[in-house]
Amino acid sequence: DWTMGAYREEAVRSIREQIGDKKVICALSGGVDSSVAAALLHEAVGDQLTCVFVDHGLLRLNEAEEVVGMFRDHMNLQVIHAQEQDLFLGELEGQSDPETKRKIIGKLFIDVFQKYADQIEGAEFLAQGTLYPDVIESVSFSGGPSVTIKSHHNVGGLPEKMGLKLVEPLRELFKDEVRALGHELGLPASFIGRHPFPGPGLAIRCPGEITREKLDILRRADAVYIDQIRKHGLYDEIWQAFVAILPVRTVGVMGDGRTYDYACALRAVTSVDGMTADYYPFSHEFLGETATRIINEVPGINRVTYDITSKPPGTIEWE
Ligand code: XMP
Repeated sequence: DWTMGAYREEAVRSIREQIGDKKVICALSGGVDSSVAAALLHEAVGDQLTCVFVDHGLLRLNEAEEVVGMFRDHMNLQVIHAQEQDLFLGELEGQSDPETKRKIIGKLFIDVFQKYADQIEGAEFLAQGTLYPDVIESVSFSGGPSVTIKSHHNVGGLPEKMGLKLVEPLRELFKDEVRALGHELGLPASFIGRHPFPGPGLAIRCPGEITREKLDILRRADAVYIDQIRKHGLYDEIWQAFVAILPVRTVGVMGDGRTYDYACALRAVTSVDGMTADYYPFSHEFLGETATRIINEVPGINRVTYDITSKPPGTIEWE
């Protein structure tokens, strides 16, 4: 795509002009926007860029390893893997209110990011994957759950507070252009086409109190579900798909025994921007096969339901 090729060259030139020989930091989430922003920044200023990947213990199965592995080992970026699971899960213990959970995570995210950023001597710039729709609306989540400090946790003013200047190399682009640029920069297609993932992560897919046990079960069930969707060639038709673990145990039978385990709900929607959504019309065969696999492969789950609520009146997430 020659247009994106030209954009890339121009962006690299202007980033170099802005940054000079100074250092820049970037919060990397593994989402499309922050990934493309990081790859572009790296092309422009190389090791003057340091990325911070905040691991809040609410990520999907193998997600941290995949993201950090790709950027650090495969693309040679300097990535700090902030292992702060104990901090986040500790503060979230006993909390069941959705907005309280979000607030705790948002505040800790900022604290943690700041702590790691302070260790990078001489950093003067903060890079964000802000897109054009974010710029015109400046409403949180308007660009989907891309992880920029601002749209991710709805906390403005961080760069000023930290005394950093902002670099927003994607602010003229729409989502599909960001994907094209990511492709141009050599990011794998599997990364560029990923479903959005919310900043608070699995916390809002675990209604009620969060425990490590529930998170482990949820991660495994979600991995089986996404594997099913990919195997059936449906991933790209779906805007977002995930499992929510329900705060209820139900009775089941397995072999000669009685089970008393968690129920889960599968969610899959089509959407253009996340503002409205329709539930995805899976075949009964797909749903039956997926339920069987989850129950057989994930200890701790003995009942699988499918969420057929569209948005509105439902939301996409369960919290
Ligand atoms: P809802 O559940 O509001 O979700 O229909 C719409 C889109 O926004 C994502 N979402 C979030 N993203 N922080 C985020 O970064 C949040 O607190 C949050 N809540 C919802 C959701 O995954 C969906 O893509």
